[in-house]
Amino acid sequence: MEDILVCECKNISLKDVLECINNGCDSVEEIQKELPVGQVCSMCLSSKNDLQGEKPIHLDKLLKSIKGK
Ligand code: FES
Repeated sequence: MEDILVCECKNISLKDVLECINNGCDSVEEIQKELPVGQVCSMCLSSKNDLQGEKPIHLDKLLKSIKGK
């Protein structure tokens, strides 16, 4: 499960993102300061960017489910 890619463009896995959250990042912006997530198509950032509904995990929803934000 942790090797699921959150950001295919930059090859960033769920494990990478969870590590970042565990290290104190608690917003999409803070995660982006640590990881190059969302710098290409930005589809991974928010389901609003993913009109085709192609990605199983979007960063905003992941954060919301973990942090309640
Ligand atoms: S999937 Fe993350 S920038 Fe494209």
